Amino acid sequence: MTMDLFDQSPAEPWAEPICEGALVLRRFASACGSELLVEIEQVAAQAPFRQMQTPGGHTMSVAMTCCGDWGWVTDARGYRYQQQDPVSGDPWPSMPEVFHKLAKDAAETAGYGGFEPDSCLINRYLRGAKMGLHQDKDEDDFGHPIVSVSLGVPATFQFGGLRRGDRPERVPLEHGDVVVWGGPARLRYHGVLTLKAADHPLTGVCRYNLTFRRAR
Ligand code: SIN
Ligand code: FE2
Repeated sequence: MTMDLFDQSPAEPWAEPICEGALVLRRFASACGSELLVEIEQVAAQAPFRQMQTPGGHTMSVAMTCCGDWGWVTDARGYRYQQQDPVSGDPWPSMPEVFHKLAKDAAETAGYGGFEPDSCLINRYLRGAKMGLHQDKDEDDFGHPIVSVSLGVPATFQFGGLRRGDRPERVPLEHGDVVVWGGPARLRYHGVLTLKAADHPLTGVCRYNLTFRRAR
């Protein structure tokens, strides 16, 4: 087959292992990217992006909102999941069907069949925003994997070990990439390096991340 230089059709997704239990599904969400972005806007119209406070009193550089039954929040009282948006007191917007299907399909493709997320944290990064190394451990059952979708401006993901001091691997993430980790990798430290200034045709100066988890 000859390759047309001007062919705009998206590449087929492909998988890249990171370590046992973790992999990147490259471009897995590319085909539904614009749909996801429309839904992000709808969620944010009900539950606006906000920069939350860490328990230590710092303002996070990443702005967040949530959808699904359980939303992840942080404030002076600590990190936790709750069913109401603390800003409005209303329940979080429900999880759009396209979100749920994508997360389920990605988990299944990664070898984690039967994933039923009840929580989606939506992270918005602008230039200069970052996420320090941390473990996702506010969930009840670490038997469920994590599905993490990147949209818009590229970023560098850090994927470390089970101890904070383990040197993290750097994994470049682009629009449509989906990282899935679970099993022996479920509690690995991870984070995102400071976002560099860039422009994406679908998101402008923003990077979005959807983190799907089973909280309860
Ligand atoms: C996180 O896992 O906490 C954020 C991941 C990302 O933004 O890619
Ligand atoms: Fe995380």
